[in-house]
Amino acid sequence: MCGIFAYLNYRVPRTRKEIFTTLVKGLQRLEYRGYDSAGVAVDCAGKDDKGSISLFKKKGKVKALDEELYKNDSLDLDLELDTHFGIAHTRWATHGEPSAVNSHPQRSDKNNEFVVIHNGIITNYKELKKYLVSKGYEFESETDTEVIPKLIKYLYDNRESDYVSFSTLVERVIQQLEGAFALVFKSIHFPGEAIATRRGSPLLIGVRSQYKLSTEQIPIQYKSGDSRRDIKNKNYINKVDSSNALHSVHDRMAVEFYFASDASAIIEHTNKVMYLEDDDIAAVAEGKLSVHRMSRSAGEDPVRVIQTLQMELQQIMKGNFKAFMQKEIFEQPESVFNTMRGRICFETNRVVLGGLKDHLKEIKRCRRLIIIGCGTSFHAGVATRQILEELTELPVMVELASDFLDRTTPVYRDDVCFFISQSGETADTLMALRYCKERGALTVGVTNTVGSSISRDTDCGVHINAGPEIGVASTKAYTSQFVSMVMFGLMMSEDRLSLQKRRQEIINSLLKLPEMIKEVLALDQKIKSIADELYQQRSLLVMGRGYHYATCLEGALKIKEITYMHSEGILAGELKHGPLALIDHHMPVIMVIMRDSCYTKCNNALQQVTARQGRPIILCCQDDPEISKMAYKTIELPHTVDCLQGILCVIPLQLMSFHLAVLRGYDVDCPRNLAKSVTVE
Ligand code: F6R
Repeated sequence: MCGIFAYLNYRVPRTRKEIFTTLVKGLQRLEYRGYDSAGVAVDCAGKDDKGSISLFKKKGKVKALDEELYKNDSLDLDLELDTHFGIAHTRWATHGEPSAVNSHPQRSDKNNEFVVIHNGIITNYKELKKYLVSKGYEFESETDTEVIPKLIKYLYDNRESDYVSFSTLVERVIQQLEGAFALVFKSIHFPGEAIATRRGSPLLIGVRSQYKLSTEQIPIQYKSGDSRRDIKNKNYINKVDSSNALHSVHDRMAVEFYFASDASAIIEHTNKVMYLEDDDIAAVAEGKLSVHRMSRSAGEDPVRVIQTLQMELQQIMKGNFKAFMQKEIFEQPESVFNTMRGRICFETNRVVLGGLKDHLKEIKRCRRLIIIGCGTSFHAGVATRQILEELTELPVMVELASDFLDRTTPVYRDDVCFFISQSGETADTLMALRYCKERGALTVGVTNTVGSSISRDTDCGVHINAGPEIGVASTKAYTSQFVSMVMFGLMMSEDRLSLQKRRQEIINSLLKLPEMIKEVLALDQKIKSIADELYQQRSLLVMGRGYHYATCLEGALKIKEITYMHSEGILAGELKHGPLALIDHHMPVIMVIMRDSCYTKCNNALQQVTARQGRPIILCCQDDPEISKMAYKTIELPHTVDCLQGILCVIPLQLMSFHLAVLRGYDVDCPRNLAKSVTVE
């Protein structure tokens, strides 16, 4: 999905070349989110004349944009700029095809008076565009974003007096916008100033200063008396006064600011960051950062805190692996361990999820659990539903966020709704969260991203601690989500005498899980050799049942998203009701047959497949007495308790999809048409 990066140096001299390098590097750190074009805006005037902005935009990779920047010989790359603000963006096309004109920054006019980068979607852009066109503003792109720079120019052109602050203009703009956005603005009328704002899309600001920050808490300036107005009411522009909104944080010292939609673009420069909240307007002018908003809502924190990020750059680097996805698959012994660290006491069998313990009583009293997510995160819910039903003795519904909303599913005050999301920013999941909140349910976030919208907007939650996941195909987040949900079940059943034996068995198995994952990873070469035989196939079916229905759905999703092969996860119990028609001696089928309560039924499905000359590859337990006698290809896995076996079974499918994608020559980390963080509906 789109990525925002911007860099402001105040009294820190940087050559134009250094500024370009910082902007391009910022974009490269965001490449993993998925994009199809990129662009930057910088000042193009000489040292003293601050009056113009250059735009560079290119379809394709950031590398192509980087080359474009250096082709341009009208800019003096060695010129040192004491203070400068540059903005950069990677775009993932939603409105209008990937092209230079549709990419960001979008501009107000041919003189680039205002330029804007935007993540998200403006749902009322058609109405705004119509109005602005009627006022004589000319549009050049097909994007929804373009209304924003045009609108700010309109407001500037029609300002009430000579002076109007940049943040006031932006505030007036966002009053008119509907939808979701993170925005960063730059303007020739406000040289060296930056404005950033958000609603429903993440945005954070990194601060680097040679001196200790004079305060790490930024009080918010509130304004009253202004409300959303119709753009056609021209009088409204006289009613806002934000001239005294700036609050000094740094007293005119040398300082650098980094704006990004994601911490991975900032962390190499500074670990001091501030996350913006919805409707915050952050302004940097004269090296000072201030935040203000329209009015204070009940219970709202009146300060924004500059926090210290713990993330290390090397954590997000690829190391010796060919792709982030491969690295993340191999990290699973540690990531799964980190999910459990400090939460399970293996001596006493106690499981404490700190973020949930104060709500446990309320959760135990609830009518049902509803687990909501998209894609892989949804599959983590499917994978753990059965064990949660058993350990919590509550009805558990698992829902795809988009479908849950489409159905306007009934939700009640005594429901507990879980929102599973690696990024914590997925638009559908976030909307489902708001929907459930409005209906009074208790909301629980299960995310991998501290400070994400879902982790902030839920009543309580679990951080899965898998570490940054960069490959677009989710791998280690799935296994950590899985473990988190199982831990929740264990926490809920602590005082149920009849469940103690079962709990003990699961806790013992969790202790051994990291070592068992290592054993599975050791099968990589065997899996690669199977991939060598399969990579030219058009389709690949993955079949299983019970605990492994989720394994099949997740394995098939991994295969389709990065290999572009047709792949389906099939519930073996449904075989006779349709899918059997697909089976012949050409169709490769991976079957998951583990020693659990579905073993016999899965063997029956195997018979049905082989009777139709199907050629199964079987994921089974090591030394399975029946299957090892058969003449089929097998991937033999260590055996663990039934409800955790899905963790061990999904890993060969993750590895298989990785090898298939490499053999087919595809970019594993950036599959076509997909984005890491899906912040649009
Ligand atoms: C698949 C994948 C997606 C995500 C889905 C939800 O590999 O990554 O299916 O799982 O877009 O994303 P999150 O978990 O960030 O809400």
